[in-house]
Amino acid sequence: MNKLFPPDFVWGSATSAYQIEGGWNADGKGPSIWDVFCMIPGKIHNNDTGNLACDHYHRLEEDVALMKSLGVKAYRFSISWPRVLPAGRGAVNQSGIDFYNRLIDSLLAAGIEPWVTLYHWDLPAALEFEIDGWLGEEIPDVFAAYADVCFRHFGDRVKNWITINEAWVVAILGYGHGVFAPGKVSKDLPYRAGHQLVKAHAQAVDVYRKKYQAVQGGKIGITNNCDWREPLTDSAADRAAAERALEFFLGWFADPVYKGDYPDCMKERLGDRLPAFTPEEKALIQGSSDFFGLNHYTTMYASDASQSAGAGSVYGNGGLSEDQDVDLSVSPDWAMTDMQWAIVPWGCRKLLEWIAARYDNPPVYITENGCAFDGKLEDTERIAFFDGYLSAVHEAIGNGVDVQGYFIWSLLDNFEWASGYSKKFGITHIEEGTLKRVPKASAWWYAEVVRRNGLG
Ligand code: GAL
Repeated sequence: MNKLFPPDFVWGSATSAYQIEGGWNADGKGPSIWDVFCMIPGKIHNNDTGNLACDHYHRLEEDVALMKSLGVKAYRFSISWPRVLPAGRGAVNQSGIDFYNRLIDSLLAAGIEPWVTLYHWDLPAALEFEIDGWLGEEIPDVFAAYADVCFRHFGDRVKNWITINEAWVVAILGYGHGVFAPGKVSKDLPYRAGHQLVKAHAQAVDVYRKKYQAVQGGKIGITNNCDWREPLTDSAADRAAAERALEFFLGWFADPVYKGDYPDCMKERLGDRLPAFTPEEKALIQGSSDFFGLNHYTTMYASDASQSAGAGSVYGNGGLSEDQDVDLSVSPDWAMTDMQWAIVPWGCRKLLEWIAARYDNPPVYITENGCAFDGKLEDTERIAFFDGYLSAVHEAIGNGVDVQGYFIWSLLDNFEWASGYSKKFGITHIEEGTLKRVPKASAWWYAEVVRRNGLG
């Protein structure tokens, strides 16, 4: 049966600067916290780095041509903040501006709409040293000033802006578990970093709305990530646990934007460990997104841990589990990707329905969805994954959820953060040594989905 998507549905592919660009110190670029983090022995699988990555910095024309050949309509990429502002603030690096101008112009010439993320984790290292990165008091102002530089230089052609990619990951993996840059381990810092991330987002949006939006006519929002949490049993306690897990995951960042403050359950459980917004900040934050950006990868069962000895038995995708009293688990029946993330398409549908119900049916763009499998070109598992998840998205739309676009993660096999190059999410293989791009079967399959505006 044909599953057609709404007319004008945005079909895209996504990447991020540090994961593909390389050119880590080329033409005046400053170091980012990821450049530095990768230098610490043992932090990254195989001690891999993004120094060269896919060398997209020198191959952008080839990558745009690749997308054109696939017919994708939109491309989500991120701007490397230290490529544009090597010290994070102050002097602009003209070579960096030139690079993104060339990328944007090539995309537009190829009929591909640029979707630009301002922050996909590569904070200028100078800001980590000088103002304590995302913990610093000044960081929202500094981020808004950087955003201003981007709107000023690129906003005549870029009409879709995403402020921050996955504040949850920045906060939890960067400041809680310490497995991502800047590598801090703490039970409290994630909530402080998260607070500054929300304020930084809102201030950047305020700059766009006051100075640029009327003239440039684009839209701006934030992208959050969330897995689905399915109650392990039908008990009231497990249902409440699953809800709590979602509120600590997505509600943490989406509630301030859509409701003006953190979820009650976070405020109650965390007390003083959760910073509070002032009334002025709440007013600035509420309504600060023109769309709901969502990255979604997997599903876990959630059960109540308040009575169990080792509360929060899964340390990983759960955030700070002990704050939530939630145990997470997976079904032995669920197939897994190479990340050991379960493949559960119906979780995607349920999450979309949860978002529509909680936030009054905002326009949703799935800004990332994808899977890691071994690097083979006949990637039938990836095709099955996308087919399953897109069917779930189609079903959600049928049930009234306003999904307006979908971006596959990722266009290219690339630097998968702490996993280095060992985890391959791309629909395109990168040949070792030559870095030649070779589309996998899933790339041609996706091209056909885009052409038909749906699944066959
Ligand atoms: C997201 C992230 C991407 C990519 C993906 C797969 O959290 O935004 O950069 O790494 O996960 O793990």
